[in-house]
Amino acid sequence: MQFSTNAVLRTVSAPPIAHAHRWIAGRTFPKDRPLLDVSQAVPSYAPAQDLQRFLAEEIQKPGTALYTQIAGLPVLREALAAALSLDYAGRIQAENIAITAGGNEAFSVAMMALAGPGDEVLLPLPYYFNHQMWLQTLGIAPVYVPFNRQSGGTPDIDAIASRVTPRTRALVLVTPNNPTGAVYAPEFLEQCFDLCQQAGIALVLDETYKDFRDDVGVPPHRLFSRPDWEDVLIHLYSFSKVYALTGFRVGSLTAGTAVQLQVAKLLDCITICAPHIGQLAAWYGLTHLDPWREEKRLEMRAKKAALQRVFAEPVNGFRLVSSGAYFGYLEHPFQGKSAFEVAHKLADEANILILPGSMFGPEQDAYLRVAFANLDLKALPELGQRLEQFRI
Ligand SMILES: Cc1ncc(COP(=O)(O)O)c(C=O)c1O
Repeated sequence: MQFSTNAVLRTVSAPPIAHAHRWIAGRTFPKDRPLLDVSQAVPSYAPAQDLQRFLAEEIQKPGTALYTQIAGLPVLREALAAALSLDYAGRIQAENIAITAGGNEAFSVAMMALAGPGDEVLLPLPYYFNHQMWLQTLGIAPVYVPFNRQSGGTPDIDAIASRVTPRTRALVLVTPNNPTGAVYAPEFLEQCFDLCQQAGIALVLDETYKDFRDDVGVPPHRLFSRPDWEDVLIHLYSFSKVYALTGFRVGSLTAGTAVQLQVAKLLDCITICAPHIGQLAAWYGLTHLDPWREEKRLEMRAKKAALQRVFAEPVNGFRLVSSGAYFGYLEHPFQGKSAFEVAHKLADEANILILPGSMFGPEQDAYLRVAFANLDLKALPELGQRLEQFRI
């Protein structure tokens, strides 16, 4: 008799990006109509050359092949604590930081540290699909907060408050948001902090895209300057996008030391430590690449502006509902057609690989996510032209 797999896991949806890639499997694209891949959020450029040279030297040292401390290299934790303290005008110490194998591992261990089967976690729509998949895997019920289209994607605070129950363990927010690109205002985040504090639940803030916000001179919020932040906040971050290191697998979880005690057990069992070479890359980025990071931020801002210009007016009925950092959220004009159908057809006929909103949760069938960061600046008008000609 064949063994069976985990019954809960079988109910979890398959990896969405891999699914979309099947639409173009085996196809080749003509030079005059190349694939415009706006599906996965990956930087369209290589890591900084200085960083590559640094790693080429480090990889030759035998010590680089070894595990690091569970919570990460002390120099990296120090450097990140200093960088976050500066960015948020707050008080973050190295003990507050655990280095993880990417932002996804940071979320995974945060949820395992906070909740268990039967508990609830508030997840605004549209969600980042791996967040939802992981909650389901753990038997934690994701409680959805409706998409607030009018606000450009910032959830309604009353809608959040009304969904808190005695089983709620956390509110998860992503800002700048994946998939909408929406950047939440500091005042809204303060309200969420207060709400979570009153309810005795965690505010889990995924700020993977923080370095691509419009104004890096101003803290994204002031939550880290609140004296009691450790009682409420768990902050998730990724080095994947900021230093173009998606394959190096390095991210972080910033929280109070009580949470870190629990997180250490999980990290020890799952990965023991984040990849040593990835940690060195992250350290180098934090300590040497400020000008490079700024250059890439400005590039991304120019791409966003180009996207906004293309969609200043609806293009063949496609409307840009929100945009920011890496993403734009488009409303398609084909009522009665699912986002999945529209996206599949765009792959087949317009050579555009784009993700259907339905991959980001219920009631998202009218939308498509554009990961515009993947495209060269000059490809953005081309995206508009192809959508202009598209028929279904
Ligand atoms: C909101 C968000 N969090 C986390 C991640 C995962 O990043 P990492 O590569 O660090 O695991 C992503 C990647 O797309 C993301 O969009």
